[in-house]
Amino acid sequence: MARSLKSSQLLLFVFLLHLLSVTWSWKKEEFRNCNQTPFCKQSRSRKPGSCSFIASEPVIENGELVAKLIAKPLQNQEEEPEKLEPLILRISVYHGGILRFKIDESPDSPVTKKRFEVPDVLMKDLDEKKLWLQRISSPENGKGSVLYLSPGYEAVLQFDPFEIYIRKGNDPNAIISFNSNGLFNFEQLQNKREGDDWEERFRSHTDSRPFGPQSISFDISFHKANNVYGIPEHATSLALAPTKGPGIESEPYRLFNLDVFEYISESPFGLYGSIPVMISHNSERTTGFFWLNAAEMQIDVLGHGWNAIDGIAPQHEAIDTHWMAEAGVLDAFFFLGPTPKDVIGQYTKVTGTSAMPQYFATAYHQCRWNYRDEEDVAEVDAKFDEHDIPYDVLWLDIEHTDGKRYFTWDKLLFPNPTEMQNKLMAKGRHMVTIVDPHIKRDDGFALHKEAAKLGYYVKDYSGKDYDGWCWPGSSSYLDMLNPEIRSWWAEKFSLENYVGSTRSLYIWNDMNEPSVFNGPEVTMPRDAIHFGGAEHREVHNAYGYYFHMATAEGLLKRGGGNDRPFVLSRAFFPGSQRVGAIWTGDNSADWDHLRVTIPMVLTLGLTGISFSGADVGGFFGNPEPELLVRWYQLGAYYPFFRGHAHHDTRRREPWLFGEKNTALIREAIHIRYALLPYYYTLFREASVSGVPVMRPLWIEFPADEATFNNDEAFMVGNSLLVQGIYTEGARSTIVYLPRGQTWYDMRSGDAYSGGKNYTLEVSMESIPSFQKGGTVIPRKDRFRRSSTQTMDDPFSLVIALNSSMEAEGELYMDDGKSYDYEQGAYIHRHFVFSKGILTSSSMRSTKTSKKTLSSNSVIERVIVLGLSSSAKSALIEPAKHTTEVEPGPLTLRKGSSAVGVTIRKPNVRIDEDWAIKLV
Ligand code: GLC
Repeated sequence: MARSLKSSQLLLFVFLLHLLSVTWSWKKEEFRNCNQTPFCKQSRSRKPGSCSFIASEPVIENGELVAKLIAKPLQNQEEEPEKLEPLILRISVYHGGILRFKIDESPDSPVTKKRFEVPDVLMKDLDEKKLWLQRISSPENGKGSVLYLSPGYEAVLQFDPFEIYIRKGNDPNAIISFNSNGLFNFEQLQNKREGDDWEERFRSHTDSRPFGPQSISFDISFHKANNVYGIPEHATSLALAPTKGPGIESEPYRLFNLDVFEYISESPFGLYGSIPVMISHNSERTTGFFWLNAAEMQIDVLGHGWNAIDGIAPQHEAIDTHWMAEAGVLDAFFFLGPTPKDVIGQYTKVTGTSAMPQYFATAYHQCRWNYRDEEDVAEVDAKFDEHDIPYDVLWLDIEHTDGKRYFTWDKLLFPNPTEMQNKLMAKGRHMVTIVDPHIKRDDGFALHKEAAKLGYYVKDYSGKDYDGWCWPGSSSYLDMLNPEIRSWWAEKFSLENYVGSTRSLYIWNDMNEPSVFNGPEVTMPRDAIHFGGAEHREVHNAYGYYFHMATAEGLLKRGGGNDRPFVLSRAFFPGSQRVGAIWTGDNSADWDHLRVTIPMVLTLGLTGISFSGADVGGFFGNPEPELLVRWYQLGAYYPFFRGHAHHDTRRREPWLFGEKNTALIREAIHIRYALLPYYYTLFREASVSGVPVMRPLWIEFPADEATFNNDEAFMVGNSLLVQGIYTEGARSTIVYLPRGQTWYDMRSGDAYSGGKNYTLEVSMESIPSFQKGGTVIPRKDRFRRSSTQTMDDPFSLVIALNSSMEAEGELYMDDGKSYDYEQGAYIHRHFVFSKGILTSSSMRSTKTSKKTLSSNSVIERVIVLGLSSSAKSALIEPAKHTTEVEPGPLTLRKGSSAVGVTIRKPNVRIDEDWAIKLV
């Protein structure tokens, strides 16, 4: 474009670009810190033991324990405090080690405003898992109530000082507890009296706060914990560093969904999504805590000695944390573990497991802001083929629309969208277009006219449609909290309504925090009004989730209920995992950002969101080829794998950096494609048990303390360990391989024993990756244009033996697209290698067999790592034919000292039972 500009225009252009780059560096002052946020400042200054509530009058009601929380007058208080109704505490117990406690205003409160409880997050069947409490007993000191929780565990409600904790058997020590430090505070709603000034100001914005202060804060203690993890989204380490305590000066971790341009790579500052879930871990126990609340939250992890009196810290072996929210109710859960996988299972019992994605969505996605026009799309598509690089999805960003009116196409640039999508589909490829929540206020835009007429927009504090500034200019925002509006929105995705869309088109939801360029902190004012009179301050962190949900509902409807939706969202909340994928927003093309993607994606996985990834290459800036290659090598393992870039960056499709780099990127993408059967099997596991695809090492090795702080390496499933390379020009790296296992280098097949740090040489060819002994990984080693074209291709099995010369693994497959698997149309195999025999048997559940799936795919190769055998052939049962065995794994590098054999062309069907015996 610049070539056609005159020099004066060019100058102006450069100046504007400069301006843009200035505007787009992180502007700290645009956002509030804790001191500028009254509820945070006030809660944070509370002293241990300042809680004024005591519990009393416990009774059993509806299978729950119900008690009153009464504020006792504070000592030295001169004025008689205003008499408020007691708060109501409800404690309930759920099957499988889950305790829930809720604190809200009394139904007798004279204030008509009800506090907001977040709907549509908890699983609908949760109530069925409730254990109906029959009776309560008193603890030894008689000052509370004891509840049966699950075999061997009890929950104790102590009246005064008010505390809730969980203990095991007769051990009086708590495992996890609420208000042990007496920080609980609950600002009750009050009717406004004359002279009350509740307004809050920040920069040029005034928040009318018509309902006054209503914050809630309290402390949670994780006893004997080594570390705490969770509470995304922050760009920070996996194990959460303390934010308050002796010698520590930091902002608390903030949970407030915000659109942050150029976020920095190490900060407790809140990014696009919020999941108020924290997990604690030590070598014996994992526990979890979840607070269902969508208001702004601030969380301190308190460093040792934070509560010292005269410099002396009380004897205490817990990690204390302080939770503060601006509004809402206290609706919280304790998860007992005891293992990391148990805690994730308990949390996902409450909020759901990840939706099962379509197969194509687990492959590589190519995005850029923007692919200019149909010609550009066709060219990029053709180049992938020319360079023999598979990809599955081509993405169109905001510029494809007619003036940022979503569901439309720029008629000049995209005159034939249907044809364009069909051409991609002919190669098994899909397209994704962006649909953001801001609707252009333009009377010529039918969607806006209809939404305005129906009164479907969020209102400002005065009751008018809220009008904010976003990509299209003046915009309004649909009130997605309202289920009726979500259904209406869902209809917009039908093929008739979304003109130019096809069944191979899927959707990207961005800016759904919501982002409002001229709003306070780049978002919607807190006093905007939603469905049912809820204030935006109460709904904020869940807004994007409802938008995401409505969009996915639309794609589901479009497919007649039998086409799994794919919708990527930037904002998220607990429950988002049931809806679709998440990415970590606008990162930058630098090494620190590359590094922080791993703790970010791991944290999302720990808190239920398995399907996530970061922009490969970094959104802002131009990566050097080395960084880009390293990013592809790492990103190939993210559950969601997409290259994306800002429109000011230079083009960076994989073939633009010389042949050598193209080959390296191709190789990285090939690795992902080879591993797709394994990934898909893991996605299925996540959809059943909640355990994420990409896992911190300590999930798999909970007793190995050397893994607790490691967030540079990670596990993919239980079989693969990957170590990223995060520095320029790296020639070597240190890799910790967890103890008790043998590990096989994925490329060379070389074996390493676990429990040690290894300093390994690295080249540009790959990043270190290892298969754990005792596992079997299914692969597809033939590369085609897209994953959908490989559905009938043969498999390879890579068997890595443990010290007993055994291994086992799984393969799950279905049609990759529909929900027929729910009725039994899937194949699920269990592979076991023992005593020189590999067997395949079915893992299908007998409950779901209305439909079946057969496949003509065979296994074309079995590689057994760690086996030194002189066998020349293998006997296949029941077919009774033999096949050739070669020493040395086929795909391994020359000169490697690896031991192994390859069984060539056993050609056994993937959907049948068989045994292969080395003879
Ligand atoms: C936001 C998104 C980014 C997208 C851009 C234009 O910055 O995070 O991915 O490219 O908006 O839609």
